[in-house]
Amino acid sequence: MATNPPKVRIEIAANERLQNLKKAFEKKHGESPLFYACAPGRVNLIGEHIDYCGYSVLPMAIEQNILAAVSVNNSGTITLANTNPQYNDYSVPCSGEIAIDRENPKWHYYFLCGVKGIQEKFELASLAGMSCVVDGTVPPSSGLSSSSALVCCAGLVTMEANQKSLSKVALAEICAKCERYIGTEGGGMDQSISFLAEEGTAKLIEFQPLRATDVKLPNGAVFVISNCCVEMNKAASSHFNIRVVECRIATKMLAQARSLDSSKLLKLAQVQTELQASLEEMLTLVDEVLHTEPYSWDEICKVLDITPDQFSTELLSANTQHVTHFKLHQRAKHVYSEAARVLRFKSVCDSEPAESIKLLGDLMNQSHASCRDLYECSCPELDELVDICLKSGAVGSRLTGAGWGGCAVSMVPCEKVESFLQAVRTAYYLPDPRKAAMEKQSLFVTKPGGGATIFLEE
Ligand code: GLA
Repeated sequence: MATNPPKVRIEIAANERLQNLKKAFEKKHGESPLFYACAPGRVNLIGEHIDYCGYSVLPMAIEQNILAAVSVNNSGTITLANTNPQYNDYSVPCSGEIAIDRENPKWHYYFLCGVKGIQEKFELASLAGMSCVVDGTVPPSSGLSSSSALVCCAGLVTMEANQKSLSKVALAEICAKCERYIGTEGGGMDQSISFLAEEGTAKLIEFQPLRATDVKLPNGAVFVISNCCVEMNKAASSHFNIRVVECRIATKMLAQARSLDSSKLLKLAQVQTELQASLEEMLTLVDEVLHTEPYSWDEICKVLDITPDQFSTELLSANTQHVTHFKLHQRAKHVYSEAARVLRFKSVCDSEPAESIKLLGDLMNQSHASCRDLYECSCPELDELVDICLKSGAVGSRLTGAGWGGCAVSMVPCEKVESFLQAVRTAYYLPDPRKAAMEKQSLFVTKPGGGATIFLEE
C-alpha cells in the first residue's frame, strides 16, 4: 500500500530543538513557521556501492536529521537560511529555471535539488513562495548521508508548501533522481531509507521496484558509529563517479563477452538477470572475462567496438573525462560478492541462529576488506579506525557510506559497549587534539530511527 510521510501534531514547547528553531525562524522572518519537516541521515550496515549497480542494500535511519521550519507566502521568492552560521543565506525566484552549480556544491544547492525535483514532477510553472530555516544534526561529509537528508527534507518541504501529495516511495524516487543535479550518480539508498525508515528496524532496500522490508537486528549487540575525522564530499571530487563509471564499463564488457545486447545494459545486476545466473556464477564469469590489469580507453573501445567519442559521451560522466585507466575486474568482484553478503546478512537476521552475532560480524569484516582492497574506497585513517574498533571489542567493523573518509560502523556485543567506547576514545581520538575536540559528535551508539516526517504545531 502506498503510504505518505506522516504528519504529526506536536507541542513545540516540549521539544527543545524545535523550540530553538522556531525562535530562530521568528527572529529572522518576523512571523511563525507554518510547518516543520525533517528527514534523517542513515548508516548503511552492509551493501556498499552496489545500489547504483541494481543490488539491494541494508541501511537504517539514524536519529540525526535535517529539520526545516517553513512559512508559505506570496513573495515570489524561496528564501533559505541555516542555523549554522557557516552556511550563508540564499534566495531564488519561484518561477524560471532553478540553476544548480555543480562546480560549487554549496549547501543551498542540495536544498534546491529537492525543490527542483518537485517542481519538475508536477510541472509547476511557479512554485509557492516560502521562507525556510534549516537546522541539521547529521555531521557533514561523514558518510552518514547529510546531503541526501537535506535533499529529502527540501523535497518534502516543497511538496507540502505547494499542497501536493506523494507517497514515501514516490518521494524517495524523485529525490534520488534530483540529487543527481549536483553531479553525483548515487543509487538511491540514502533517499529511500530517509523516507521509508521505521523506528526500531533496519531495512532491506530493493530497487526496481523500490521496496523496503524490515530486518530485525539481533538483541545481543548494538551498532556504534565512529568518524575517522577525514572529510569526504562526494560532489566535490570524482572518486564516486569513477566507481559508477567503472561498474558501467564492466557491465558492457561482461555483456559483450556473453553476446548480450550490451547497448541496453547499464548495471551489473542487469547482466545477472539476463544470464539468469547466480551471484556465485557471476563471480566466476568476472574471473573468466576480465583481467586484473587496468583497462585503457583504447582496449575498452576495441572490445566494445565504439569510438573514443562514444566512450566519452555515452559511458563517462562530466567529471570522469580525465580518467585514463579503469579497474574493471576488482570493481565487479566487489559488487557481486557484496550483493551476496547483503542477502546472507538478511537471512542470518531472519533465521536468528545461535551464533548470529559472530556471523553478522564476519560479513561486515569481509565487506570492509572488499571495500578497502577491491573497491579502493577506504583511506588509511578509516582502516586504522576499523582495526582499533575490532581490537576494542567489536565483532564486526566496516566503513559506511561512500567512503574515502567519514565513518565506520561497528557491531558491539551489548555487555562490551562501555569498554569499547573507552578503548576507541583512548586509541583513536584522545592522542590527536583535533580528533579529541570532535569526539563527542564522532563516536556514538545508534539505533534504527524513523523516516521523514512533517510536524504541525498543536
Ligand atoms: C553514497 C550514495 C549511495 C550509495 C553509497 C555507497 O551514499 O549516495 O547511493 O551508493 O554512497 O554505498
